[in-house]
Amino acid sequence: MAPSPRDASPRLQEAMKQVQEEVDKKISRLLPETDLAEAHLYDAMRYGTLNGGKRLRPFMVVHAASLFNVDPVRARRAAAAVELLHCYSLIHDDLPAMDDSDMRRGKPATHRKYDEATAILAGDALLTLAFEIMADRDTHPDPHVRVELVRKLAVASGGHGMVGGQMLDLIGEQEEFDLGTISRMQRMKTGHLFAYACECGGILGRASDPQKKALCNYAYDLGLAFQVTDDVLDVEADPNVTGKPANQDAQAGKSTFVSTMGKEQAKARAEMLVHQAIRHLHIFDGRAEMLKELAMYVLERRS
Ligand code: IPE
Ligand code: IPE
Ligand code: MG
Ligand code: MG
Ligand code: MG
Repeated sequence: MAPSPRDASPRLQEAMKQVQEEVDKKISRLLPETDLAEAHLYDAMRYGTLNGGKRLRPFMVVHAASLFNVDPVRARRAAAAVELLHCYSLIHDDLPAMDDSDMRRGKPATHRKYDEATAILAGDALLTLAFEIMADRDTHPDPHVRVELVRKLAVASGGHGMVGGQMLDLIGEQEEFDLGTISRMQRMKTGHLFAYACECGGILGRASDPQKKALCNYAYDLGLAFQVTDDVLDVEADPNVTGKPANQDAQAGKSTFVSTMGKEQAKARAEMLVHQAIRHLHIFDGRAEMLKELAMYVLERRS
């Protein structure tokens, strides 16, 4: 079951629930059960995706796209693709070679439910499926739009994006990073995919460069704030609410905002970043209310 977005306004709660339901339906269709010999792989892919995530990145795709009147069917396909890629990153993040985490979204992590090899392969297949969806004509009829979707997703999720950030995260277990390096790492780990999710809505809707830039700037600040709150939740949240074990970062000796500046200063930094994020949306003249509410929710979230 999807977690309820505690502390979100009723309007945001309703909008998040709607995206969660739509994305679950879409992912379920994209990953049909099969009786082919590789069914085990598809079971693991379904397990690692249809397991109640908050679906924040799909929310960004859908609500950024709605600013430009994008066909909701196309927006939902792109939203599902971004979520599949995010789920791949979580499956691999939990592996023993990385964070060695047994629980995800309140259930055994994919490598605990299945085995490590299956979890690695399920992640690989989800990553490639995300690109397959972005390159599909049903996502957008214009090949130039599709190439932009594919190329920017590759950059956001690759070696100077999310995967590079994950590398820094592991190096940060051995070395003590300064604040600048931690900020860069968090931007790569989380900010780039947030920015892609928001920009994706603009790409689908042929937004202008300044509009896409504003969405990316919003997402970078929000992504940083989001990862700061993730680090705070690691030390103070209830694992029954987050659905993942607590104190994982300290146990692994990771460099985080909390380890460097302490919990209270980290919270203050997150608050500043969220307000900064919201300011980037001013060019949409009050039409980006859902994205603004999402930013406030990131500050208050418990999971
Ligand atoms: C967890 O992301 C990984 C980070 C980038 C901190 P989310 O907190 O969005 O996880 P789900 O998708 O809701 O499980
Ligand atoms: C994970 O960051 C970020 C990515 C998967 C890219 P964390 O390792 O902090 O995420 P959690 O806390 O396990 O969800
Ligand atoms: Mg990690
Ligand atoms: Mg982790
Ligand atoms: Mg974490």
